Amino acid sequence: MKKKEAVQRRLQQLRELINNHNYLYHVLDQPEISDGEFDGLMRELVKLEREYPELVTPDSPTRRVGGEPLPAFGTVSHKIPMLGLDNAFEPGDLEEFHRRIRRGTGLEDGAIEYACELKIDGLAVSLQYEEGRLVRGSTRGDGFTGEDITHNIKTIRQLPLSLPEKITVELRGEVYIADRDFAEVNRQRRQAGEAPFANPRNAAAGSVRQLDPRITAARRLKLFLYGLGEHDLALESHLELLEYLDRLKLPVNPNRALCRGIEEVKKYCLRWQEERRRLPYGIDGVVVKVNSLRLQRLLDYTARSPRWAIAFKYAPAEATTRVKGIQVSVGRTGAVTPVAILEPVALSGSTVGRASLHNEDVLAEKGVMIGDRVLIRKAGEIIPEIVGVLREERTGEEKAFTMPASCPSCGTRLHRLPGEVARRCLNPSCPAQLVERLVHFASRRAMAIEGLGPAAAALLWEKGLVEDLGDLYGLTREQLAILPRFKDRSIDNLLGAIAESKQQPLHRLLFGLGIRFVGERASRILAGQFLQLDRVAAAGKEELLAVPEIGPKIAAAVTAYFNNPSSHKLIEKFRRHGVNFTEPRSGRGGLPLEGEVFVFTGGLAGFTREEARRQVEERGGRVSSAVSRKTAYLVAGRDPGSKLKRAEELGLPILNEKEFVELLDG
Ligand code: IVH
Repeated sequence: MKKKEAVQRRLQQLRELINNHNYLYHVLDQPEISDGEFDGLMRELVKLEREYPELVTPDSPTRRVGGEPLPAFGTVSHKIPMLGLDNAFEPGDLEEFHRRIRRGTGLEDGAIEYACELKIDGLAVSLQYEEGRLVRGSTRGDGFTGEDITHNIKTIRQLPLSLPEKITVELRGEVYIADRDFAEVNRQRRQAGEAPFANPRNAAAGSVRQLDPRITAARRLKLFLYGLGEHDLALESHLELLEYLDRLKLPVNPNRALCRGIEEVKKYCLRWQEERRRLPYGIDGVVVKVNSLRLQRLLDYTARSPRWAIAFKYAPAEATTRVKGIQVSVGRTGAVTPVAILEPVALSGSTVGRASLHNEDVLAEKGVMIGDRVLIRKAGEIIPEIVGVLREERTGEEKAFTMPASCPSCGTRLHRLPGEVARRCLNPSCPAQLVERLVHFASRRAMAIEGLGPAAAALLWEKGLVEDLGDLYGLTREQLAILPRFKDRSIDNLLGAIAESKQQPLHRLLFGLGIRFVGERASRILAGQFLQLDRVAAAGKEELLAVPEIGPKIAAAVTAYFNNPSSHKLIEKFRRHGVNFTEPRSGRGGLPLEGEVFVFTGGLAGFTREEARRQVEERGGRVSSAVSRKTAYLVAGRDPGSKLKRAEELGLPILNEKEFVELLDG
């Protein structure tokens, strides 16, 4: 009896914990524990409930499918519930799934055909098309009722608002954010003193569930469709459905396969375990579905998931290491960020020696101390993050770290502004900030001044040669000659690069100024709209807000920047030195790849060739099948052919898939 009471208490505790973490994850998009930890709690609950079925309550999280709709959105009820998938973690689980399918269908191994596709790490959405027009988009919510996110879904550019056929159909798919866009969103959030998203899925969820669709649009969400809700389409198989969606020009993931029997399925799952690293977006597994829709109907659903499908899940790449120290760095906006210095450790393809702790709240939440052993992983496969501390390995020797009260660079007292998580140094002439601003101004995507990296920037400041960005243009050979490590050649090169940068178009100058919230995209938009720096500087809030994609935050930051007297001084310095203030009105209709010839070789993971061609052509470029001197770029995918060699011989720019995507994104 005692034991049962203890079990009852634990069950109660597990349900509360799971409900709370579910809320943090699905509703607030701010998880506090890793997916692995959450799965562990859920597994324990399932196991206990299986042993003590009489203790199962109807409201147990095992009886539900997901989060709750945010009340601020309208609700949409799903006539056919949006269920989850059963999980397989090892090949043996797939074999067991296969045995169940054989039992359920009475078919032999090789006679069962499976459609295998990638399990996109995003959030599930439902799209309603009526007579070919997109009328509604909704989240999964709790599986029965979701949130109406039509206004946000419509900002996804891949998604056609009307279809070439006048069909009425409910489609289901996954909204996700590509790794590169995820990194950019987090960079902007950090810059704005906001908590970064824990992973791309949370970023996608947070973006879809924005009340302001302009914010959603700026996040560049993407989508893959993989299923049906209510419909009256006459189709026979899942793969046929995907091909049909492809023909309707809807976004469907090109990586899919028909597998006969379970051995082929296992091979497919193992192959993508490695290959997924080459994808420009995250997947967390492979979804295996019985291909025949007739057999799917026969197998049917349990209360929580279809019996005809299973998700083979990959474990996220993780490693443990020790925190050697915690440093704070001052960014160009004055935000002070704690960074954990780690004993270097290999993690999915690179060596990790540092991990940002973002801000003091994250630091406190994770409870990291100097000397701790920590579990790290790569968020979105790129940015290393500390998942948690291995507290049981503490020896008592660990040292707590407290954020400094004053700026490590200039000694000014740090401030935490209302509504911000970062402590900031508010001293506009703080050396660390100025050096960071110089480095940013000179960076490849801003004014592209080669040779002006962190070391050179720090030297220029220390010797008193530059006090603001404008001073760069007044530098002389004699001044640079006094700098240690600067030889004739490097002086010439640096002066040459500085002089050349005066011709950069306005959007690069704007980006280089480092105005808060004004990233590359906003800079392009502003430059394209106003064409001249003086016109951007003179624009009032209303005028800025009237520009597509420019929201209140950017508008406020831009006006604040140009109202500041030190900005006037800076701009006048630029003007005196002949820095270009204009954006060329591209006579070519402004298409970014106008006239450029692309050649492809090898397989691309994220595109079919047709899609890649469309992407290039939409931006004014052209695709050719042969490499020549006229080729602007060779895009080399998996297993490239002889074109790669030819391009190398000609010294042409060669892009891998990731770089190609970056180029497309501008
Ligand atoms: S099929 C009846 N296919 O994974 C359930 N789901 O863990 C049909 N997901 O809720 C789901 N990629 O959000 C399916 N290719 C794919 C998927 C996929 C990602 C997500 C989806 C689902 C979750 C289940």
